[in-house]
Amino acid sequence: MAQLIDGKLISQQIKDELKEEVAQFKAEGIDICLAVIQVGSDPASSVYVRNKKKACAYIGGVESRSYELPEETSEEELIKLVEELNADESVNGILVQLPVPDHIDEDKIIRTISPDKDVDGFHPVSVGRLWIGEKGFLSCTPAGIIQLLKRSNISIEGKECVIIGRSNIVGKPMAALLLRENGTVTVAHSRTKDLKEVAKRADILIVAIGKERFITSEYIKEGAVVIDVGMHRDEANHLCGDIDFADVEPHSSAITPVPGGVGPMTIAMLMNNCVETVRK
Ligand code: GUN
Repeated sequence: MAQLIDGKLISQQIKDELKEEVAQFKAEGIDICLAVIQVGSDPASSVYVRNKKKACAYIGGVESRSYELPEETSEEELIKLVEELNADESVNGILVQLPVPDHIDEDKIIRTISPDKDVDGFHPVSVGRLWIGEKGFLSCTPAGIIQLLKRSNISIEGKECVIIGRSNIVGKPMAALLLRENGTVTVAHSRTKDLKEVAKRADILIVAIGKERFITSEYIKEGAVVIDVGMHRDEANHLCGDIDFADVEPHSSAITPVPGGVGPMTIAMLMNNCVETVRK
């Protein structure tokens, strides 16, 4: 039986550690405030935003300041709000929930957020800091995966790490973080030749391709650690990931479930980034 990597439990541990840390900051008179901006009312975004605010409330001492803007908000109006929040000393972190409506340039908005308040870690300055090993905000999902591995006593150093997917939010920052932990890193993607052979090299396989149950046991080296970043609702209305769990689990040494694997870690690491804004 593979070890089940319990993201629900590990994210709870992290949130509880943060709760204690935040209580100490509060006792010293240091408050933390996260500004959360949502443009429009995309239902999935509304769920994510609600969960982020709930996490702030759970940790206590992290105030979430909510900006719910109408779909027709112009790019200029959104930029003006972000600039005001950049200048507002009572705001520590700024999060613009993505995607924004099509008439707004997402990259332009990300670049407007001050790198000192970029708790998503999406700003090019945060990305640059990550790659050169400088202190800065880490992209939440990849940082959460590193925590899952470390807290499950899975060492990364010297391991063959294969990431499938090269997005700016997961694949690329994941590569930088695994490299920082001294893993040997391969990033595979939709144009990779013989994906099965590449995936089979992995001691640690991280899958973020956005295709329901795509990865079967044919992609797995016996005993590999398998991390599933995907989240889908199948025809039977069940949540599932990019990995065919029932097929892959018997061949892995450790595996994340969906739900309850990577998902809960993203918000825990967002909370960590909020606390990071006040750490010395
Ligand atoms: N949309 C989907 N995931 C994310 C995330 O991690 N941050 C933001 N801001 N928007 C998202």
